Amino acid sequence: MKPLNYSEYLGLENILNNQKLKSEERGSAAHDEMLFIIIHQIYELWFKQIIYELNSILRIFSKDSVIESDVSLAVIRLDRIIEIQKILIDQIRVLETMTAMDFLEFRDDLFPSSGFQSSQFREIENKLGLKIGNRINYGGKDYKKVILDKEQKKVKRSEEENSLFDLLEKWLERTPFLSFEGFDFWEQYSIAVKRILNNEEQIIRNNPNYSLDEVSYHLKEHERAVSSFEAMINPEKHLELIKKNKKRLSHTATQAALLIFLYRDEPILHSPFNFLSRLIDVDELLTTWRQRHALMVRRMIGAKIGTGGSSGHAYLKATAENHKIFSELADLSTFFIQRSALPKLPEHIKRSLGYHFKL
Ligand code: HEM
Repeated sequence: MKPLNYSEYLGLENILNNQKLKSEERGSAAHDEMLFIIIHQIYELWFKQIIYELNSILRIFSKDSVIESDVSLAVIRLDRIIEIQKILIDQIRVLETMTAMDFLEFRDDLFPSSGFQSSQFREIENKLGLKIGNRINYGGKDYKKVILDKEQKKVKRSEEENSLFDLLEKWLERTPFLSFEGFDFWEQYSIAVKRILNNEEQIIRNNPNYSLDEVSYHLKEHERAVSSFEAMINPEKHLELIKKNKKRLSHTATQAALLIFLYRDEPILHSPFNFLSRLIDVDELLTTWRQRHALMVRRMIGAKIGTGGSSGHAYLKATAENHKIFSELADLSTFFIQRSALPKLPEHIKRSLGYHFKL
C-alpha cells in the first residue's frame, strides 16, 4: 500500500488551488484579494469545526436523560467552540491590514456575493437556536433565498430540527431538584426574595439623608425591581411575557436555571453550572464577532450598501443587538440573591447533592 503522504492526507491540492482572484480574471489583479479569499476560506473551515462540535452536543442533549459525564463532555466541546470563536474575532485584525482603498480595487468584482450567503454561518445560528421570527430581515426576503440551491436543504433542516436552545429548555425542565424530597425551591426562594425586597423598601423609607422627593424617586425604582421579580416568580406573568416575545425560556426551565446558578457550589450542580456559563460565553462571543465585523465593515465601506444589498453597517449593528440566543441566562443575574440570604438546603438534600465516600 502507498505510504500516507502529508499533502494527500490533507487534500492540499484542492485547498491550495482554490484561490481564484476575480480581479485577475478581469485582467487587473488586486494584491489584497488573495488575503480576502483566504481569510473567508479559513472562516468557513472553522465554521465547519464549530458545526461538528455543535452536532455532537445536540446528540448528547437529544437523549431522554443526560448523564453527568455527558454534560461535562458538552462543556469540553463548548470550550473548544469558545476558543475558535476568539480566533474568529482576532483574525479580523489580519483582514484590517487591507485598507478601504485596497478593498475598492476589487470590491465591484464581488457583487452580488456576500458573507450573507454563508450557509454554514446560518446553520450555526439555527443550531444554536436563533428563531426565524427574531431574524432582522432586509428587503422583505427569506434569508435562505440567496443561499446556493444545493446548500439550502441543510440550512432548512437546521431550522426544523431541535436547536440547542430547545434541548436546553427540555433538559432544564426535567431537573429533579426543583421540588426535592420535601424541599420546594420556588416557595423558599419567593419567601427569601420578598424578605429582601421588604428590607430594601424599609431602607429607602427610613434613610434620613433622603428628601421626600428622593424617597419617592427611589421607591419608584424599587417598584420596578419588585414587578420584575413578580414577573419572575409568577408563572402566568412569565407566560404573558413569552406571548409578547419578551421572554422565550419556559417558566420551569427558568426556575431550574436559576436554581443551578444559585446553588452552583453544590458538587452535583458544577457541570450544569459550567454548561450554562459556556452557553452565555458562546452567545457573547458571537455578539462580539458581529460587533467587530460591523465595525470593520464601517471602516471598509462607510455608509455604502453591502455587496449583498443590505444597508451594510446599520443592518449588521442591528443583528448584533437582536440576534442573541442565550441572553435570558445572562439576565438571570437580576434575580440572584446573596449566599447568606439563600434558603438553606436541608441536610439530607445537601448530602444528596454532594459527593460522599464510604471508607
Ligand atoms: C472587507 C471585508 C468585509 C466586508 C466589507 C463585509 C461586509 C459585509 C456586509 C455589508 C454584510 C451585510 C450583508 C450585505 O449587504 O452584504 C456582511 C454580512 C456578513 N459577512 Fe461580511 N464583510 C467582510 C468580511 C467578512 C468576513 C471575513 C467574513 C467571515 C466569514 C464575513 C462574514 C459575513 C457574514 C456571516 C455575514 C452575514 C451576517 C448576518 O446576516 O448576520 N464577512 N458582510
